[in-house]
Amino acid sequence: MNSVKIGICGLGTVGSGAVNVLGRNADEINARAGCEIVISQIGARRDNPACDLGDISVSRDIFDVAENPEIDILVELIGGTTVAKELVLKAIANGKHVVTANKALIAEFGNEIFAAATEKGVTVAYEAAVAGGIPIIKALREGLSANHIEWLAGIINGTGNFILTEMRDKGRDFADVLKEAQELGYAEADPTFDVEGIDAAHKLVILASLAFGMPLQFDKVFTEGISKIAPQDVTYAQELGYRIKHLGIASRSSENSDTSNGGIALRVHPTLIPEKRLIANVDGVMNAVLVNGDAVGPTLYYGPGAGAEPTASSVIADVVDLARTLTAAPEHRVPHLGFQADKLNDLDILPISEVETAYYLRLSALDAPGVLSKVTQILSDAKISVEAVIQKEPGAGEDHVPLIILTDRVIEKSLDSAVTQIQQMDSIEGEITKIRVESLG
Ligand code: HSE
Repeated sequence: MNSVKIGICGLGTVGSGAVNVLGRNADEINARAGCEIVISQIGARRDNPACDLGDISVSRDIFDVAENPEIDILVELIGGTTVAKELVLKAIANGKHVVTANKALIAEFGNEIFAAATEKGVTVAYEAAVAGGIPIIKALREGLSANHIEWLAGIINGTGNFILTEMRDKGRDFADVLKEAQELGYAEADPTFDVEGIDAAHKLVILASLAFGMPLQFDKVFTEGISKIAPQDVTYAQELGYRIKHLGIASRSSENSDTSNGGIALRVHPTLIPEKRLIANVDGVMNAVLVNGDAVGPTLYYGPGAGAEPTASSVIADVVDLARTLTAAPEHRVPHLGFQADKLNDLDILPISEVETAYYLRLSALDAPGVLSKVTQILSDAKISVEAVIQKEPGAGEDHVPLIILTDRVIEKSLDSAVTQIQQMDSIEGEITKIRVESLG
């Protein structure tokens, strides 16, 4: 049996998971790959007691791996975008294929990296970059290649989903749950990436490029985090038959009354979704991506979005894929973004103000005659249809009541202008809460 030599850079959670899975399942992996996959070298600043390296050669300088002429595939698991970018470009320049779990690197520098790889006739594979162990990249790039994809929506940050789930089910404190996610190895080095949606935006932009055949445009993603979700919004959403999830949504928007052109909406934000949808019931650190293709209809991909071995599962799948195609001419390999590089379209990304969706609004309104009717009048004047209203009893000694409104779909800038008028009413106190609502049906 021929052998394919890999070098792994980074021996953290995912790196040690990859070493362990490659060792444990070597026979099956090699039988699938049609060759023996050998870890020839590890580049890591320090050892990790979570894995036994046996007699694998270790260098404290990761660039030794990129320079090692023995190595066919460099596996980049160091994270970050500065050294990782340099390392990956060095490996490509030296004619090595690359496997990476680095979503930030692909989302922000993928266009440049793929161009360099294409030029050199090598492949950069990145299944582990999105949704951990779920083979969503392969599904979009290959399994769904017959389809015109209309939209996709995903829970693509395990830490954020874990936090929202624990807060909802156990009433746990935000900071306490975040700390646990860090201890379990789910959270990013900078956990604001998880909580503020940056990590999800990295993943969304990759999924959208694969779905729609366009270059990666990370700077165009609208991103709103979960840190402002109040416990009462979780409760009111449930009363209305919804759950709040932090979603990444990519959709094609056709021409409509308020926007001159259609375009692609790319957005990460807390979203109310009907509780009966399967994706509304994806809890804990689990991820799920719902993809709607014109031929296949809705398809849902579910699984662990983070963690050592789930992510290693995707890393190794890429290694196996590359091992199989190592001898194929570059034009016979699957293109980086699923579409041939010269067929990618620079589609317009809509600003959030032009995106159409439904809304959940929570107001604190003076408990007096005419207030509700004035609020609904403003919405009606803006041609915003109200789907549901809940008005709560005032608490003891309180003169303001929570007023919860679900609207029909409307362009965001129209909703915002009505909300600004409502906000200016003397009978409304505090800031109005706005959360987007999607039926995903
Ligand atoms: N911090 C990420 C998450 C890790 O929680 O989903 C996997 O990308």
